[in-house]
Amino acid sequence: MPSSQGIIVTEHTSKPWAGRFTEPTDAFVEAFTASVGFDQRLYRHDIAGSRAHARMLTHVGVLTQGECDTILQGLDRVEQEIETGQFQWSVSLEDVHMNVEARLTALIGEAGKKLHTGRSRNDQVATDIRLYLRDEIDAIQAELKRLQTALIDLAEREHDAIMPGFTHLQVAQPVTFGHHMLAWFEMLLRDAQRLADCRKRVNVMPLGAAALAGTSYPIDREYSAQLLGFERVTENSLDAVSDRDFAIEFCAAAALLMTHLSRFSEELILWASAQFDFVDIPDSFCTGSSIMPQKKNPDVPELVRGKVGRVNGHLISLLTLMKGQPLAYNKDNQEDKEPLFDVVDTLRGSLKVYADMMAALTIKRDNMERAALQGFSTATDLADYLVRQGVPFRDAHEVVGKAVRLGVDTGRDLAEMALSELQQFSDAISADVFEVLTLQGSVAARDHIGGTAPAQVKAAAARARRRVL
Ligand code: ARG
Repeated sequence: MPSSQGIIVTEHTSKPWAGRFTEPTDAFVEAFTASVGFDQRLYRHDIAGSRAHARMLTHVGVLTQGECDTILQGLDRVEQEIETGQFQWSVSLEDVHMNVEARLTALIGEAGKKLHTGRSRNDQVATDIRLYLRDEIDAIQAELKRLQTALIDLAEREHDAIMPGFTHLQVAQPVTFGHHMLAWFEMLLRDAQRLADCRKRVNVMPLGAAALAGTSYPIDREYSAQLLGFERVTENSLDAVSDRDFAIEFCAAAALLMTHLSRFSEELILWASAQFDFVDIPDSFCTGSSIMPQKKNPDVPELVRGKVGRVNGHLISLLTLMKGQPLAYNKDNQEDKEPLFDVVDTLRGSLKVYADMMAALTIKRDNMERAALQGFSTATDLADYLVRQGVPFRDAHEVVGKAVRLGVDTGRDLAEMALSELQQFSDAISADVFEVLTLQGSVAARDHIGGTAPAQVKAAAARARRRVL
């Protein structure tokens, strides 16, 4: 039995489709096939769709204005009952669509029975999910924007904070923390663009496809589409009731977004460790250990990193759900909702917590800078210096390799060596070499669009603010 709140199992409520049946539904089959336990969350969109459908039927003369007014009032009442928790959901009535319609008819009588004219639950459910997902995408975009803004704020504030940049998780070259934050921003901007693109295909109205072939009533689909804010109507009724591509696309975009958050999480977790000690995640986003008094665990990033698993799983569920399905609607499609809902909830929650956490993150500039001084992060700068003195890059690479070897053997960075020591590897080196061996000199030299120089990071942050969707 679906376990959602407020569901009651009524003794074989008479079903809207009971006419051709001689036996009641088996009690277990009834519970097994019902979707009301999870699709009741679509009620607002279901009612919105019904309002538009009733108005369209009136517009084309299938319903009278009086019938329409009665239906609209009745739908308001149903919505209010649901919102105030008075509505009695019934498993016998299978899904949100039949629950709402049955209650409407109980409230207003004859007119309620006319609402389903020229419509099927097949085009109704497809419409509901699209309306629901359109709203959710908008809410997700708002959270995404908050997170992007937090990253840009951090980038601006810390545009000249120096940290080690890594490849292979080995110290590579110094970068600025602001530059790192803007790398995250770029990933999220692509996610926002993908969601915006997906929304275009979500925002198409299947209503009017009816069960699969369209309807014999003189419906005006453009009229309902306008009422519901859909950009256009679906072109083919068979495709309209069976298509769930938009849900798969959304989950794919969500999986990639969650993958990005999992990468941010991995870095934050490392940075928060005693070994790195680059950042301070506020206490309000961490928890302690019940046995180890010293622990402050980065639970939020860890949990978000973990949640990518369920989102990837749901994407595969939906792909597998649709694989091999013949046209048009099949009951299989009822299985689209739980994965989709969970992806929406997981993504929205993860983005919200991340936006809040990043807005409160502080960094430890001294520790970052100290770490950047380890691992010969300015070795490439020395090679570039030699090239500027006319040494071919491959020879320069070898000279620097030998200098690094000396540094490893004597436990010193390149900047800590005497000029004479460096000169034994190449006579192209003179006193001005130390300008490029400092961290500040190294980052400032990467002064082009997309580079890590503090001035570039500041400019990039300003551009990023304008690029947010
Ligand atoms: N509960 C169904 C779903 O979620 C609604 C459509 C059912 N249509 C049908 N002919 N059984 O897909």
